[in-house]
Formats: sequence, C-alpha cells, structure tokens
Amino acid sequence: ITEVLAIDDEQSLDKALAVLRSGELVAIPTETVYGLAADANQPDAVRKIFAAKGRPADHPLIVHVDSVDKVERWVAQVPECVAKLADAFWPGPLTLILPKANHVSTVVTGGHSTVGIRVPNQSGVLKLLSMLDSGLAAPSANPYKRISPTNAEQVMYGMDGKIAAVLDGGPCEVGLESTILDVSTDVPRILRAGPITKSQIETVLGCEVHIPQSHNVAVPGNVKAHYQPSKPVQLLSSELLATTLTGLSRSAQNDIAVLYYSEPLQMALEGSAAVKMKLSSDKQLYGQNLYYALHQLDQADVSQIWVELPPTDELWLDVHDRLSRSSAK
Ligand code: TXA
Ligand code: MG
Repeated sequence: ITEVLAIDDEQSLDKALAVLRSGELVAIPTETVYGLAADANQPDAVRKIFAAKGRPADHPLIVHVDSVDKVERWVAQVPECVAKLADAFWPGPLTLILPKANHVSTVVTGGHSTVGIRVPNQSGVLKLLSMLDSGLAAPSANPYKRISPTNAEQVMYGMDGKIAAVLDGGPCEVGLESTILDVSTDVPRILRAGPITKSQIETVLGCEVHIPQSHNVAVPGNVKAHYQPSKPVQLLSSELLATTLTGLSRSAQNDIAVLYYSEPLQMALEGSAAVKMKLSSDKQLYGQNLYYALHQLDQADVSQIWVELPPTDELWLDVHDRLSRSSAK
C-alpha cells in the first residue's frame, strides 16, 4: 500500500526520511512536477525507480540537492558558470548536466559519465534534503512515456501500490519539467526546453547557448513519443480545429475532447457537443494547468483529444515540445 503523507507535517517528513534511508521510494512534490525519489547514494534503491516506472536503465536521473554548495559532492569539477546560474535560477526549474564525481553510481546516470543536478523550489523537499544529507535521484513520477503528475492524486493514479509513500505538497506551481542545460562541454546546450528560456540563460551567462536539433544520449527528452495520455492527441491550428469540428455530426463531436485557450476558438466552439476545457492564454498559467487538463481529459468519456496549437514565441517553446511529443505516433 502506498501511504499519502502531508508535506507540511513534521512527522510526515520524519517518516519519509526513514523510508528513504531504508532504501524505499517516496514520490515528492517539486515546483515543476512530482518526482519519484530514492537516496542517490543507494544504487539498489535507485534501481527500484526504473522498475516502478518501467523506464529503460540507460535513461539518466536528475539528482536533487538543497543548495548550490552541495553540487561539488556530486560532480568532478564545478565550472565557473554554475555559481552564476545558481544565483539567477536556483532554487528553480533548471537542471545542469556536469561531469560526474567518481563515486556517483552509473545506475543514477544511466551509464553516462555526466550527472544531472538541480535545486528544486519546494520548501518541504528542501527541508527533507537537508535532513537526509544526501541527494535524491528522481525522474518525474509517471509510468514511462506517460504524462508527468502535477498533484499527489495523479501520482497515485500511476504509482499506487508500487512505491512506499507520496508526500502531498498540493498542485505544482510551474507544472512543466525543468530546462536541461548541458554545461559539461565548452558551449552550453539546452537538451530539453523548459520554463527557463534560452534568452534568460544567455543574459546570465553573457554567451551564446545552443539548442541542438537532436543529441545522442538515449534520454526521454530525446524520445519523440513521450508525455502521452492513453488517448490519441492531435495538435491543430485554431482555424483547422474549428472548421473540422463544426463539420462533424453532434454525436461525433461528443466523442472528442478539446483543449484550447484562445477567444476566437471559444466562440467558434460555442454550441458544439465536444467536451471542452479552457486554459489561460497567459503562459505561466497555461503551463501550470496543462498536465492536469490532459489527465482530466484522458479520463473523460471521449476517444480523442484535440489541442489548439499554442503561440509560437520563445516563451512557449517548452509547451510546444511537450505537446508535440504528446501527439507523436
Ligand atoms: O523538472 C524536472 O526536471 C523533474 C523534477 C522531478 O525535477 N524531473 C524530470 O525527470 O523531469 P525526468 O527523468 O523525467 O527527465 C529528466 C531528463 C531526462 O530526459 C534525462 O534523460 C535527462 O533529464 N538527463 C538526466 N541526466 C542526464 C545526463 N547526465 N545527460 C543527459 N541528460 C540527462
Ligand atoms: Mg519524465
């Protein structure tokens, strides 16, 4: 049985700490999405993460720590840029890829010589990390290829019975996974778009940052079909979505869930029989609620999910990335 523990309760934190020390798994809230955590210093515990998720062993995990001072414990050498990036973005949704320290288990790094590391912006988890005095290896707390959970209930939906406990910290504030920045090479590279944009990073570093079209590491961020509801997702422009839907019979419309944000589409959909859900046109709010909405619509009595194509400017790059993987075949 998986126990649900309130994160703002001291006894709950003590319990979670004991569970982690004993080599079992605890799902934790972060500001981005919920993570599925094990003590990063216990390879046997970390192996259980891959089993619970059904994730291939060569997909590396992020190590979560409670402050930038702890980075040196996990990496071979701390480059200058780390202090600048930490000052600007930690605690927060930025993961740095660095050459790993010798002692860091390759179970954590998926066999790679680098390690991903970040300080999450969640006060209860930061407290837990300082009590543990280790790092927490944690991927998102969803079964492999599914949508990341942004509340404790969604964690239970995919993980109930497979893990010891879930720390419930309420809904995630950011709602989309961290930006992954590889600083293990000369030119920093963004391996996964996220809430912190390329321009924000370039401003802080004062140098150019690359976004490679594809990279070699076999990682979920590089898997085309990922972040998927169990129902097929189609990404459509506002116009195409409106005309296609209104061309269908009412019973056919009723079999489709539509996730949209724009006023024109709202007007065009009025009177249709589709199951509708509206997100904000403000990027922050949209990102906060996207996975929640997809989880909800996945459970609605429909056979398809149609999503209105979001705006195309840089701020929305992470949303585009996740939605195109959601809809990939
Ligand atoms: O916001 C987040 O990043 C959440 C929360 C829980 O921190 N975590 C998360 O973990 O999204 P996960 O495992 O679902 O995605 C992490 C991504 C994967 O694409 C993984 O392959 C990549 O980070 N990654 C981790 N270590 C890496 C490494 N050494 N080299 C390249 N990519 C790495
Ligand atoms: Mg994930």
